[in-house]
Amino acid sequence: MNLSIKTIASWAIFLLILMQFIPLNRINPKAVSETAFPEPVRKYLKKACYDCHSFETDWTGIAYIAPLSWLTSWKVASGRQALNFSLWNNGKSGNGFLEPHKIRHVIMHETDHQWCYHVWKPDAALTGKEQQALLDWFSQTGRKY
Ligand code: HEC
Repeated sequence: MNLSIKTIASWAIFLLILMQFIPLNRINPKAVSETAFPEPVRKYLKKACYDCHSFETDWTGIAYIAPLSWLTSWKVASGRQALNFSLWNNGKSGNGFLEPHKIRHVIMHETDHQWCYHVWKPDAALTGKEQQALLDWFSQTGRKY
C-alpha cells in the first residue's frame, strides 16, 4: 500500500479527534481534612505543589486536549498518591507517612522536580524568599507532622 503524507496526516487528525472522546478522571474530591497550614506556607504550597499534590488541582488549559490531558491526569494521580496535602494530617498523606525531609529535598531542587510542568506553567516557580520560607517551616514546625 502506498501511504502518502496526506493519508497519514488524515488518519492522525482522525485519531486526535477520537482521542478527545475518551473520558478522564478529572475530579477534585473534597479535602478530607484541611490541615491548618499557616499562611503564607499554604499560599506557597498552593502555588507550586497543589496542582499535583492536593484535591485543589487547577484543571484548565492543556488538561483538556488529548493526548496531553492523559499525561496531566496521570501525573496528578501519581502525584496525589505520593503526597497529598489535602489529606495531610497526623503525619499521614496520600499513601502514608512522608518524612518532611523528602519534601524539603524536592523544594531545594526547585524546578527540577517535574520540569515539564514548569515549562508549561512558569508562574508556579517559587521565588527565593518563598522557597526559604517553606524550607524553614518544614524543618521546624513541619517536623511534628
Ligand atoms: C506536575 C505535577 C507535580 C507538581 C507541580 C509537584 N509534584 Fe511532587 N510529585 C509529582 C509526581 C508525579 C510524583 C511521584 C513520582 C515521582 O516521584 O516523580 C511526585 C513526588 C513527590 C514527592 C515524593 C518523593 C519521594 O521521594 O517519595 C515529594 C516529596 C514531592 N513530590 C514534593 C513536591 C513539592 C514539595 C512540590 C511543590 C514545590 C511538588 N512536589 C510539585 C508531581 C508533581
